[in-house]
Amino acid sequence: MLGLQWGDEGKGKILDVMAGEADWVFRAQGGNNAGHTVEIGREKYVLHLVPSGILRSGVSCLIAGGTVVDPAGLVSEIQGLHERGIRTKGRLYLSSQAHLVLPQHRAIDRSSEKKRGKERIGTTGRGIGPAYADKAARVGLRAGELALSPAELSRRIRERLRIHNQAARPQGWEAVAPTATLRQIEQAAKVLRPYLCDGVALAHHAVETGKKILIEGAQGTFLDVDHGTYPYVTSSHCTAGGACTGTGVPPTAVRRVVGVLKAYTTRVGSGPFVTEDGTLGHLLHGMGREFGSTTGRARRCGWFDAVLVRRAVRLNGVTELAMTNLDGLDGLEKIPVCTGYRLKGKVLREPPVEVSDWERCRPVYRVFPGWCEPTTEARRWRDLPPKARAYLAALSKMVGAPLGILSVGAGREQTFRHG
Ligand code: IMP
Repeated sequence: MLGLQWGDEGKGKILDVMAGEADWVFRAQGGNNAGHTVEIGREKYVLHLVPSGILRSGVSCLIAGGTVVDPAGLVSEIQGLHERGIRTKGRLYLSSQAHLVLPQHRAIDRSSEKKRGKERIGTTGRGIGPAYADKAARVGLRAGELALSPAELSRRIRERLRIHNQAARPQGWEAVAPTATLRQIEQAAKVLRPYLCDGVALAHHAVETGKKILIEGAQGTFLDVDHGTYPYVTSSHCTAGGACTGTGVPPTAVRRVVGVLKAYTTRVGSGPFVTEDGTLGHLLHGMGREFGSTTGRARRCGWFDAVLVRRAVRLNGVTELAMTNLDGLDGLEKIPVCTGYRLKGKVLREPPVEVSDWERCRPVYRVFPGWCEPTTEARRWRDLPPKARAYLAALSKMVGAPLGILSVGAGREQTFRHG
């Protein structure tokens, strides 16, 4: 299950419903830059690293090797779950292959953004890019190292910090205090050690014993480091290929690819956004919608972009769509949908490769009539107003994948299957 836009498609609530059929939920990539919101009755949970499957009893969860884990962040998330009576021992596993996000990564993230000025990416400031950079440079620390003797762990951390602090002044990064960092990581290591495992062996065992595995994507297709609006992307692979690489589940074991998307489009951070529309943003923010669950930032908002989603459907081999936030469009008389990009006198059906071209594209719209009535009470496809059904059917046709799941609100009961 993964996002087909720029993240925040409502994956948390789709996952929560799908997890009811799963034995395992795996998180494949990203770190605590993600924020998955799930509402169950009056309780609201925001999870950053722990897969939302943890909220379903009978489901076990793996934070797999493709992720980057902030040890202190994960500990506070686990403690938050315990405080609300949710058990994690024997249900939550952390792959020893996952890389650690350390304080110096956050320091570099903050300083790099400041240095970029107007060209900043608008990161979440969680140190994700620098942690993946260390991984690719083969100098990262992995979660498995939390199980080393305290003396050896401390030696490895000190060494990394020495290198960071030496480079800090010339690079314009903040220096990081070793003592406080060491204390923080040693404390986190004590809590996290019992959760460590060989994530790949766990995944293979689950596949071979016929367990149902749900791999939860974080961020979205156009934040993928290869396929997104580079450089305005995150540093991991948010597409279907990344789900396999990040977990060790072989591609041939994947039966279903559920693409989650909003009935309109949002993005946080900088980068091209062809259908961005300030009036729609104003309306949605006025309804209290579209504020980030990790940073609280107001999301940029725009109309549904079929050029983008058609690309995402093909990139990920999507077998069914899970459409969320239909209710966000309830009050509108007219709903534009982008069917092509106009650039230098031509109409494109594929997004351009260069981000500078992408920024210059103008949308070609087809306008749909709005349904002008609430959809939030719908519990089945046939409860939806005919104009809403026509809108959804047209989007599904344009992007080339069938509708499987629909969501008309934050509650568990407001998500239902198509048909
Ligand atoms: P980073 O992942 O913190 O490095 O941020 C890189 C870009 O990805 C920024 O535009 C962020 O706003 C965006 N981003 C990262 N995580 C999420 C997410 O979970 N939802 C939406 N956008 C995200």
